[in-house]
Amino acid sequence: MSREAAARAGTNIALVKYWGKRDASLNLPAAGSLSLTLAELGTTTHVRFDDRLDRDEVQLNGVAADERTARRVAKFLDLVRAQAGLSARAHVRSRNQVPTAAGLASSASAFAALALAATRAAGLEVTPLELSVLARRGSGSAARSIYGGLVEMQPGTRADGVDAGAHPLLPPDAWDLRLCVAITATGAKAIGSTEAMDHTARTSPYYAAWIASVDADLAAARAAIAARDLRALGVVTERSALRMHACAMAADPAVVYWNPATLAALQTVHELRAGGVPVYATMDAGPHVKALCVQADSDVVQRALAATAGVLSVLVAAPGPGVTLLPADAEGAL
Ligand code: PMV
Repeated sequence: MSREAAARAGTNIALVKYWGKRDASLNLPAAGSLSLTLAELGTTTHVRFDDRLDRDEVQLNGVAADERTARRVAKFLDLVRAQAGLSARAHVRSRNQVPTAAGLASSASAFAALALAATRAAGLEVTPLELSVLARRGSGSAARSIYGGLVEMQPGTRADGVDAGAHPLLPPDAWDLRLCVAITATGAKAIGSTEAMDHTARTSPYYAAWIASVDADLAAARAAIAARDLRALGVVTERSALRMHACAMAADPAVVYWNPATLAALQTVHELRAGGVPVYATMDAGPHVKALCVQADSDVVQRALAATAGVLSVLVAAPGPGVTLLPADAEGAL
């Protein structure tokens, strides 16, 4: 037996952040989150189940994956095999469409693409919500990359997590947003999100207040999106990111993802805003600054960020589609 499929997913950037789990083993979030799926940055993945293999073989960007990544992928494939009643191991080839060494390689697009390619290769027919719930097991943020444009993730209430998945709020072409990504360092992040979330939940005195604040931010973001009100969405976006980081910085010992260029880029965003450009910043588990604006302002924002001390480069990304199936012979490009 040899079954194969390929898929592509865009990464997503949370405007209302996910930071904390209600169940670590099932990767269930403690609160909801809301994000924008991007067109230009993503992952293409090909999966082929093959009875002749005695272990999963995982290749990333043309080279064999490290042990940790390979184990994480194999664990995810075990979920697909269990659902499909399949025992065959798989060849997985994956390529990130992000500049290498940008420190932006995202598990969101990786597990969304893997979820679709692996389920199809295994012969499973799943709904988008089921795919989102499955992708969540690989990485919480991956649940959101199943859909394009603006997307909301539900934390769910069930212990088994079948209601913890994402749904689309606004298609990618409905609002001319741009995300200008200021790269402020190269290399991998200091501490991974899973470990940092767990540490924050256990030691930050602000954690309970952070989780309690998320629902109001989600409601405000939803209203802003319905009204296409960038200012209102931007205020929530910046507030959510700063609260998430403040909560992590208050952990013991502190989790600090920022570097001097992070603060310089934040200041550039604030200066642009003081000068009348509606632009708002967000930061994830790393030092890069992502600035949300409309397409008409993206040149001005890109130039100002590129001229900021310590900023290495600036990528501009548009809203993009959800995960899509590719012809299985797309493998040649991987
Ligand atoms: O999906 P994970 O486990 O890599 O966590 C994502 C965490 C943040 O990027 C900081 C926030 C988010 O909602 O994407």
